Amino acid sequence: MDRKRELFGGRGAAILAMAGSAIGLGNIWRFPYMVGQTGGAAFIILYLVCCLLLSLPIFLAEAVIGHRTHAGTFGALEQLAPGTKWKWLGLLTVLSPLVILSYYSVVGGWSMDYLWRSLTAGFHADAIGTVSSEFGGFIASPWAPLLCHTLFLGGCAWIVSAGVKSGIEKFNKVTMPLLFVLIVVIMGYSLTLPGSSAGVSYMLKPDFSKITPSAVAAAMGQSFFSLSLGVGTILTYASYVHEKENILVTGLGTVGFDLLFALIAGFAIMPAVFAAGIEPGAGPGLIFETLPYIFAKMGASAPWLSSLVAVLFFVTIVFAAFTSAISMFEVGVAYLVEQKGLSRRRATLLIFACTWALGALCSLSFGPLSGVKLFGLSIFSFCDMLTSNFLMTFGGLLFVLFVGWKMDRKAVRDEFTCGGTARFNCAVFDAFWLLLRYIAPPAIVIIFITNFLA
Ligand code: PHE
Repeated sequence: MDRKRELFGGRGAAILAMAGSAIGLGNIWRFPYMVGQTGGAAFIILYLVCCLLLSLPIFLAEAVIGHRTHAGTFGALEQLAPGTKWKWLGLLTVLSPLVILSYYSVVGGWSMDYLWRSLTAGFHADAIGTVSSEFGGFIASPWAPLLCHTLFLGGCAWIVSAGVKSGIEKFNKVTMPLLFVLIVVIMGYSLTLPGSSAGVSYMLKPDFSKITPSAVAAAMGQSFFSLSLGVGTILTYASYVHEKENILVTGLGTVGFDLLFALIAGFAIMPAVFAAGIEPGAGPGLIFETLPYIFAKMGASAPWLSSLVAVLFFVTIVFAAFTSAISMFEVGVAYLVEQKGLSRRRATLLIFACTWALGALCSLSFGPLSGVKLFGLSIFSFCDMLTSNFLMTFGGLLFVLFVGWKMDRKAVRDEFTCGGTARFNCAVFDAFWLLLRYIAPPAIVIIFITNFLA
């Protein structure tokens, strides 16, 4: 192990950083709208099952590779399987988080703009259509979203360039507890709105007819996205976890926090949606169209309270997006520093330049570049589809095959059981091994094919 390599300060710091990567737009933006689109409580049940039976083992597999080698994705695979084709998986997982980062930063930028709006003018609307067209106009206008994307990505670069401990760890330590407090406060407010109970029952009462193959694929895809799987971010963060720490504990802590946050976000958003008498299946526009409308509507009776909740809500989104985006950023930086010998500053600048350029194309694809189509999709949707439907699942599959079928069983077991001393973990390991070798690979292939056919 490279002794000069920075490490997280302890178990708490490691869990907060990994939870920071996991908890993001996926929890606050994607999860609630998918619950709304894919059948409420039935989707939540599917999601929980997917997280525990499939995504948790995949998460642990990635973490084992990083923790074992204390190296970034490329270096880790080179270390464990020197001179083999596995290095291509290393390269793929350096590139795919950067593609995600490019469009993620665009949405992060929109959230910053909406935070600014909630702080200044607030939201005023007499009909949901007005808010939607305002949002549509904003994202199609070339300059403002580009500026926001630049600011968002610049913020990430600034944190990452400060280093693993003084940048990433410090930022997550302050932000993550704050995010939990904020989302609980917002949920508390939402649950007191008149008419919110319909939203609560929507979240709790499953309609099992909604469990279809495509709902299963959607739940699986969402759990991949939310747990940052298959793109090397978990691997890279695990490589900064001290060798004495147990990876099972870190993994369980992270997945537990991620699930909890997604559920609280669902209970913060759905009751408000129902209270305002809006259809829950609004789709991706939920947080930028439906919610501002709800804030505007509530503003009529209690203006200061609705403005406050709007500000808290967009603060939560912006910071949650930051903590995830820096984890994607770090994968590329770790590669350039470790494999290409660049200084952290230079590496940060290079990653900033590349992701800024691709992100700018994604941003402009809502306006001036809307005519450019890749496989019938806009540049933004293409990057989203390519990464969430294919690269993440493909990367996840290869990581699972690598740990389950290529790595030495004893080495993996040692990671779980602190060299065989933790007896409870030994039993958990056996279950993990079974899931990893025999259940996860075919399940991922099925999801992959379902996504392909969709
Ligand atoms: N998990 C993050 C979220 O929920 C997104 C992400 C994907 C982060 C891939 C890192 C890598 O928003």
